[in-house]
Amino acid sequence: MTETSFTPRVFSGIQPSGNLHLGNYLGALKRFVDWQTKDVESIYCMVDLHAITVWQDPADLRQSTRELCAGFIAAGLDPEKSILINQSQVPEHAQLAWVFNCVARMGWMQRMTQWKDKAGKNTQNASLGLFAYPALMAADILVYHATHVPVGEDQKQHLELTRDIAIKFNHDYGVNFFPETEPVIEGAATRVMSLRDGSKKMSKSDPSDASRINMTDDADTIAKKIRKAKTDPEALPSEADGLEGRPEARNLVNIYAAMAEMSVDQVLADVGGKQFSEFKPMLADLAVSKMAPITTEMARLMENQDEIDKILARGADRARAITAPILSQTYDIIGMVRPVEL
Ligand code: TYM
Repeated sequence: MTETSFTPRVFSGIQPSGNLHLGNYLGALKRFVDWQTKDVESIYCMVDLHAITVWQDPADLRQSTRELCAGFIAAGLDPEKSILINQSQVPEHAQLAWVFNCVARMGWMQRMTQWKDKAGKNTQNASLGLFAYPALMAADILVYHATHVPVGEDQKQHLELTRDIAIKFNHDYGVNFFPETEPVIEGAATRVMSLRDGSKKMSKSDPSDASRINMTDDADTIAKKIRKAKTDPEALPSEADGLEGRPEARNLVNIYAAMAEMSVDQVLADVGGKQFSEFKPMLADLAVSKMAPITTEMARLMENQDEIDKILARGADRARAITAPILSQTYDIIGMVRPVEL
């Protein structure tokens, strides 16, 4: 066994497929910003190669990638501290993904709930890329030897598969080369639900725009969507137990807690006994105060797209200093003849 020790390194990614929403913000982006205060190298990725597993209009994809980069920075990521990249500019992601396509088993992929949801009944017509998606995701993470991956709840199964790929690779080749990455799924908002249906995840693909708060919504739209959010007729409980069986109430309280950086218990200690008619304006004010500055800053950054492109090019340079040696060692381990000096 070749022993390798893994220094802590954070990696996470978001698809640039439009409609960045409150779930992405609270479940992922905001938590990336929290990680920045810790002294750990971190890489955040706009996963454009993942996005094309379903059809993307080329002009929209370019726009969404830049908008996502603007969103990362507007939310508080500093491109000097964290490495910001779009996936396709760091070719080692796709190169390692091929190796992982040969490590992962068909059965593992077939069990992925996201594959089943996205492919639906018509699996024969889904792209091969959509099926292989989790192997590319494992490559995104492991090509950095990343040890920690902050994500929302819906990515848990993909991260378990990432560990399975690392374990099988290490076992097959008799090495300890890839770390068993830790998913970091923390906080009150690891699964933000639809504002129209508390049993459905808030999602960019929901046909109802009222189901989500988009990061590009203005203050009035945010307030209106919260006012119209589905609730039940009861007052808010004073303790978390009282949210049992009340998915819409739970969702709004979770959103409040995550935005106010309070625990659910603290929120309920303050608002227990209030009607939604009183709580919703409080939530709307809080959401507007947190989201509106980000939206405004995103729009400002989007006015200078050359600067965004430079940030991504610089990010790719820094990223490749990490990924190129790891890919090269991987190729060496699996028996590829490596280039010699000519
Ligand atoms: P994506 O683009 O669907 O979502 C990006 C991040 O947002 C989180 N998220 C949510 N969190 C809470 N509530 C919600 N309703 C909600 N909706 C989305 C997701 O959990 C995710 O953290 N496969 C990934 C992208 C990816 C990736 C990676 C992530 C590709 N490679 C490597 C981590 C590491 C995806 O489609 O996320």
